[in-house]
Amino acid sequence: MSKQSFYLTTPIYYVNDIPHIGHSYTTIAADVLARYKRARNFDVFFLTGTDEHGQKIQKAAHACNKSPLEFVNDVVEKFKTLWDDLNISYNDFIRTTEERHCRRVKKIFQKILENGDIYLGEYEGWYCIPCESFWIESQLKEKKCPECNRPVERVKEKNYFFRLSKYQKRLLEYYDKHPSFVQPESRRNELLQRIKSQIEDVSISRSAVEWGIPVPSDPTHTIYVWIDALLNYITALGYDDDLQLFQTYWPASVHIIGKEILWFHGVIWPAILMSLKIDLPFKIFAHGWWTVEGQKISKSLGNAIDPHKIIQSYGTDAYRYFLLREVPFGLDGNFSYSALIHRINSDLSNDLGNLLQRTLTMIEKYFQGIIPEVSRADDELSGASRVTHDAMEREMDKLQFSRSLEIIWEFIGRTNKFIEDKKPWSLAKTSATRPQLSTVIGTLAQAIKDISVFIYPFMPTTAAEIQRQLGIIENNQTPRLEFQQSFQKGVIIRKGKPLFPRIEPV
Ligand code: ME8
Ligand code: MG
Repeated sequence: MSKQSFYLTTPIYYVNDIPHIGHSYTTIAADVLARYKRARNFDVFFLTGTDEHGQKIQKAAHACNKSPLEFVNDVVEKFKTLWDDLNISYNDFIRTTEERHCRRVKKIFQKILENGDIYLGEYEGWYCIPCESFWIESQLKEKKCPECNRPVERVKEKNYFFRLSKYQKRLLEYYDKHPSFVQPESRRNELLQRIKSQIEDVSISRSAVEWGIPVPSDPTHTIYVWIDALLNYITALGYDDDLQLFQTYWPASVHIIGKEILWFHGVIWPAILMSLKIDLPFKIFAHGWWTVEGQKISKSLGNAIDPHKIIQSYGTDAYRYFLLREVPFGLDGNFSYSALIHRINSDLSNDLGNLLQRTLTMIEKYFQGIIPEVSRADDELSGASRVTHDAMEREMDKLQFSRSLEIIWEFIGRTNKFIEDKKPWSLAKTSATRPQLSTVIGTLAQAIKDISVFIYPFMPTTAAEIQRQLGIIENNQTPRLEFQQSFQKGVIIRKGKPLFPRIEPV
């Protein structure tokens, strides 16, 4: 039987500046989901990329005295390097300046025009360059952008418009029929209110912006950067001149985004797809926003921490773990070094690291470094592992990453408690209790192997390191992901350094 496909995407990020925690959060979450699905035998296509046109980038390039293309070519490398350093397993990286994208966007624009959904009109209102968003007077908050609170500029242009209003009824019907189309539910309800009360045709070209894809029938305009950007989700799959990937992976299983761009993804994007007569994605998940030490991340505050700085000091896996453990996916969160260090010391060093270390020490001490064979694992612990496996799956399928980690850590706690309860050091005192000792230690090794399988999507390097120390994989091998598979006979452990050395609080 052929594998079930699973297509997931991140937003394509603006390359006006280097990536920060916020960008890394979405991409890490998507990576965790991609790895989880692959481990469950889905045929996964994980797309990320960069949004390289528009006024904001034109302006940033100008400020650096570079041509836009020179400028974006430099910044895009920073994103790619960060994704490599964070172990992001994307299948494709799309840049909106690529020929494959531009060619297809033009064709799609023309198609929507021919459908009668695009007309030439006059736009008069406000524009937020950082958000690349049009706003009408009544939407502004104290004359500023209602999304980012920055100054907006007055715009009066002859622009092409997309007949969004025509799709209001169909959108509402769709939302009604697909209650989990947008998540979390609170955001879905907010959005629904907005669709009901306020849906107008949207400007989809700029006559005043040069850095963009020209409107094919009228090259004095460039295509509005948001239309250009949203289309990446299908141009990357070859729509519509090379349909093989498109047929395999579309509709997307989930678009993962931040909450501030939900209007574009939950309203404009579906309407465009409707106009093109393409099925809508299954799900859009809009996660919350991170602050840093209690403050909004912003260039002017200078608090946009480069994730490299964090991973150089604390490691990639600790960083991945922290971001997904600290905040329920969907809610806002706050990054602080003290919270990060606290999690590393308590969850990673104490709970997980010590469990491995003390178990391997006992295997060395009582079994000359060879994992004892067990004819029958302790039911209590292996039963708990099975329950953990199932509960974790339920949460992962809902993108509840922090719940999933909580469940895994409950099992880690239980495994530590198993050692306290069974007291292997007492069992080791007489040869009469040797069989029980073998069962306890063998069961423990099995539980740790299962833990490595559970944590793999979140912390792939740590999962591999645990299995390496357990002696089941060689250096540089990828972890084995079969759940509850017993050890072969005579596996020799390779006890190494602690997984997560304790960090002195700052
Ligand atoms: O909006 N907390 O790009 P962008 C959490 N190019 N997530 C954050 C964040 C924060 N403080 N800051 C950014 C764009 N993000 C468009 C998208 S998609 C067709 C086009 C993450 O560079 C979050 O995923 O402004 C957010 O939606 C995205 O970065 C915005 O990145
Ligand atoms: Mg933004």
